[in-house]
Amino acid sequence: MATNTFARGLLLGAAAFGALAGSGVSASAEEVLNIYTTREPGLIKPVLDEFTKETGVKVNTIFINNGLEERIRTEGENSPADVIITVDIGRLAAAKDYGVTQAVKSEALEKVIPAAFRDPEGHWFGIALRGRVVYASKERVKQDKISYEELADPKWKGKVCIRSGQHLYNISLIAAMIAHKGEAKAEEWLKGVKANLAKKPSGGDREQAKDILAGVCDIAVGNTYYVSLMLNGKDAEQKKWGEAINVILPTFEGGGTHVNVSGLALAKHAPNKANAQKFMEYMVSDESQRIHADANSEYPVKAGIKIHPTIASFGELKADTIPIAEIAKHRKKASELVDKVGFDQ
Ligand SMILES: [Fe+2]
Repeated sequence: MATNTFARGLLLGAAAFGALAGSGVSASAEEVLNIYTTREPGLIKPVLDEFTKETGVKVNTIFINNGLEERIRTEGENSPADVIITVDIGRLAAAKDYGVTQAVKSEALEKVIPAAFRDPEGHWFGIALRGRVVYASKERVKQDKISYEELADPKWKGKVCIRSGQHLYNISLIAAMIAHKGEAKAEEWLKGVKANLAKKPSGGDREQAKDILAGVCDIAVGNTYYVSLMLNGKDAEQKKWGEAINVILPTFEGGGTHVNVSGLALAKHAPNKANAQKFMEYMVSDESQRIHADANSEYPVKAGIKIHPTIASFGELKADTIPIAEIAKHRKKASELVDKVGFDQ
C-alpha cells in the first residue's frame, strides 16, 4: 500500500504532492496515511501524533483552506487523499455531493456516533460537536434562557449582532429552523431577526463578542468553541471580548440546541484504505476523543468523555435531535431565504 502511494506521488509530481508535510511520501517501506483537511494544523496535530505513536502509521497532512473537494476531484483516481477532515455539515455534505467520498461500514463508528451525527449512507462521520449559541452581554442581559425563535422578538430591536447570513454556520442554523418550522415560518423568523440587527452582518463570530463589549449590541450568535479560544488564547484583546459575554445555550421551541459537527470522510480513491479505516476508528477511541475535543474546545461526540472546562461551564448541552443530514437538505433553501429577506443588506 505504501509503495502504491509512492507511485502516485511520483505520478503527481512535486507540484501536487510537495505540499504534504513530512517526508513519509518517499519512504516506500512505511505505512502511511494521507489526510486532506481544512482545519488549522495546530488543532489536529496532537491527535495525529498520538495515532502515529500507537499504530506506527505515518500521517502526511495537507491543509487546504478552500476548494478541498475540487482538488480531490481534479486529482481523480490518482488522488493520494485517504481521509478528509473538515468542519460543518455544509462541507461534509459538499464532499459527498462532489463524489469524492466513499461509504464506510464500521460497527465501531456506528456504535459510538449517534445516528443524528453521521451520514446514513456512511459517507461522513461527526467526531466532535459545536453548538451555535447566544453570546449575551454580562452587563446588559439578565436572562439565562433563550429560544432561537426569541431572536426575532421585537424586544431585541437594534440589539442583535451576527456574521453574514450566508456563512455556512448560519446557513446550517437557518436550515435547522426550516427543518423545525417549515419554510414560511423560517422566512418570517429570519425577517424578524434582520429587523433586530444592530448593524449590517459582518466579521466572524469573535467580532460579535467584540461588538458586545463595545456596546454595539447586547446579544449575538456564535459558536461555542470561539468563546474558549478567546478566553484561553494568547490575545489580550480577545480575552476581554470573551469576558464581556455569557453563553446561553438556546433551544428551538420543542427542540434542543443547534449543533454542527467536525467530521471525517473516506476519500473515494483512498490508496491506503485499511490505514484510513484504522484512523477513522481510532478517532472514536476514548483517548482520541478527549485529546481532539480538548484541543478544539469542541464537545466529544462520544458519550462520557470529559468536556473542556470552559465549554462545560456553559451548562449541559441538550443537542437538537433532528439528524444533521436532514438539516443539510434545507441548506439551499436557507441560502435563498437569506437573499430573499436581504439579510446581509
Ligand atoms: Fe469556526
